[in-house]
Amino acid sequence: MSEQRRLIIRGGRRIEGEIAVQGAKNSALPLLAAAVLCKGQTELYNCPRLSDCDAACRILTALGCSCRREGNVVCTDASALSTSEVSEKLMREMRSSIIFMGALLGRTGQCRLSFPGGCEIGSRPIDFHLDAFRRMGARIREEHGYISCTAAKLRGAKISFPVPSVGATENVMLAAVLAEGSTEIHNAAREPEICDLAGFLIRCGAKIEGAGTGTIHIEGVRRLNGCRYTVMPDRIAAATYLCCGAITRGEVLLTHADMTSLGLVVPVLEQIGCSIYAFGGGSIYLNARRTLKAPQQIRTAPYPGFPTDAQPPLMALCSTLPGTTMFAETIFENRYRHVSELTRLGANIRVEGRVAVVEGVNRLTGAELEAGDLRGGAAMVTAALFAEGITKIGHICYINRGYEDIEGCLKGVGADIRTL
Ligand code: UD1
Repeated sequence: MSEQRRLIIRGGRRIEGEIAVQGAKNSALPLLAAAVLCKGQTELYNCPRLSDCDAACRILTALGCSCRREGNVVCTDASALSTSEVSEKLMREMRSSIIFMGALLGRTGQCRLSFPGGCEIGSRPIDFHLDAFRRMGARIREEHGYISCTAAKLRGAKISFPVPSVGATENVMLAAVLAEGSTEIHNAAREPEICDLAGFLIRCGAKIEGAGTGTIHIEGVRRLNGCRYTVMPDRIAAATYLCCGAITRGEVLLTHADMTSLGLVVPVLEQIGCSIYAFGGGSIYLNARRTLKAPQQIRTAPYPGFPTDAQPPLMALCSTLPGTTMFAETIFENRYRHVSELTRLGANIRVEGRVAVVEGVNRLTGAELEAGDLRGGAAMVTAALFAEGITKIGHICYINRGYEDIEGCLKGVGADIRTL
């Protein structure tokens, strides 16, 4: 990915004010794929304007579905679906395109797509997805970088994942809702986005129980209709903006947010010394105008543990707090790509394998950085808000994959940030 423009941030300003949190990228993408299963119109509200969502819409269009966006509403109709093949070019645009596999298999009994692209934060295999489809009766062939799946009749099955995988759980749900018979998913991912997908599919006519727990039961139905659905708030964008508020020792009110979906992020920020309150109607207030201190240990884990996606922005925050924090990244092996860039700002971080030890410093200074992945890029933005002088962040296309108008959101709360 290349992008000439850069984010230019002059740090040192306290963040104060309100940010409306976008709809969740990680929910919108499976919901867009789920639209493939529906005969009839689907209207998705609160669908964030992100390059990854645009890529999903391009896939829908290439499959023969109608797909149009008006602001944050995306209307799709998959009645005229005409192919179950996704080209390599479209697949490469984002990793989550693999989610179309379950939807296409469920709808047509076949699909052909290439191995997915996406952030380089680890090897990100798809063996759980493929093993599960095989158990459901699909024949899978891998050749010349393409995967072909066919199932004369997709059958429900008992599926047990070795570790909870968000994408594999979603893919099996998508394949199972129209399969014959019942499917049980054991050691299923429990992330809030799984509940959002289940909520959408149930509204379309699917029979699903247990989403949000480790065991999901699905009873196949013959047909799904379209529906109107509002994408849940983005818990990782919310966590990022809370870290931005905290690193500037500021005060921020997030609206259109959901505190319950933030899991361990809130207790960790409280442990650091921030005050956080939820208000009715989906608002979260953070006050960091006080002395903060480093948390001792952060271990990423599947939900409800500390989210791996919030690890990079939290690490940026911890790099400015008095004390030492030990991070253990248990989900992706290559999720410390931001460390070398934070170090350029003056952060003191040592990485050994999956552990990063952060010694807080009281000063960071601006530098020229390059985003290498989405959340690592968010960590750089977070740190730059604290750093004295100017930080320039290149390859912002990574950041734009997951943050809707990050510049406008932060400018609105007093940050000195622009794109050049
Ligand atoms: C999703 C999120 C991503 C988040 C991640 C973990 C989306 C679009 N992306 O990614 O932002 O960081 O969950 O919360 O929702 N694994 C295998 N084989 C597989 C599948 C997964 O070994 O077939 C492993 C992965 O390498 C990883 C772990 O399982 O170590 C969890 O990955 P998974 O939950 O599948 O992540 P994604 O769905 O890709």
